[in-house]
Amino acid sequence: MNTQISNGELHGTVALVTGGGQGMGLAIVDVLLKNGAYVSLLDINEEIGNNAISELEIKYESSSSRLLFIKCDVTNEIEFEDSFKKTIEKFGKINIVVNNAGIMSKYLTSWELAIDLNYKAVVRGTILGLKYIENQVDKNSAVINVASIVGLSNTILPMYQSTKRAVIEFTKCIGCPFNSKATGNNVRVMAICPGATFDGFENNIEGKKALEQEIEELITSGEEIPNPNRKLIIQSTDYYKAAFLHVMKNGKNGEIWIAENEEPPRLTHFSTQY
Ligand SMILES: NC(=O)c1ccc[n+]([C@@H]2O[C@H](COP(=O)([O-])OP(=O)(O)OC[C@H]3O[C@@H](n4cnc5c(N)ncnc54)[C@H](O)[C@@H]3O)[C@@H](O)[C@H]2O)c1
Repeated sequence: MNTQISNGELHGTVALVTGGGQGMGLAIVDVLLKNGAYVSLLDINEEIGNNAISELEIKYESSSSRLLFIKCDVTNEIEFEDSFKKTIEKFGKINIVVNNAGIMSKYLTSWELAIDLNYKAVVRGTILGLKYIENQVDKNSAVINVASIVGLSNTILPMYQSTKRAVIEFTKCIGCPFNSKATGNNVRVMAICPGATFDGFENNIEGKKALEQEIEELITSGEEIPNPNRKLIIQSTDYYKAAFLHVMKNGKNGEIWIAENEEPPRLTHFSTQY
């Protein structure tokens, strides 16, 4: 997979990315910018957001006119909708919304924030996305919700897992033909379920192995039937950039994509039997 879209397909496209100041959100901002898009980067943390903008402006010369940082807490309904308006004021339209901001919550820690940020803000971001993209639908138009492979796993983390599963179910349903016909909206809504994704292990093979083992033990501890073929590889944000582009380019309404173990992204299929 590569991180370049051919023929400048994203030139002139406007994207809004939540939690874009660091980690996987920043990776998404980076790859969109690299491919010619205009990007509105939303983050609750002003320092993180401003640092990200400075780094991107150095990395991609003359990108400053294609970048906008908006300090925004996506759990705040007014701030969140204002960010859509500010993006349109600056760039004239919105074509892509990436609902990326989220927190890992272990056990029952921050359970209300997990619901508000990992689920409620993703639902709100989707509704706002459908509302503000509406008149600008083109082949790139999409709302992409960031879930997690944990949302498809067996029993482990009550809040993180259930909120990510909720994002998957919401995305699947909102994008199904019944709902898209009812709303008359033809913006694609998709979710991506990444596996563990962290940078900084290039010169720390032992550290990477230890973390992979720790996560694997956590996942297998919740498996009713152990999966002898399970493998767990911590992937880089470079892999994630390519996986994200693949989903953005090829995904269809209501689809849920897995991007794990640095493998080509694949679609999930859900059984209707229970
Ligand atoms: N890192 C992983 O291994 C992994 C795996 C699967 C899924 N995910 C999901 O990917 C997304 C990004 O993960 P990450 O590891 O890059 O996270 P991160 O914690 O490194 O970055 C999250 C960013 O979101 C911002 N943020 C937090 N609360 C916010 C709010 N209320 N409003 C706006 N911005 C806010 C933070 O300031 C930060 O810049 C999350 O939804 C996470 O659940 C991560």
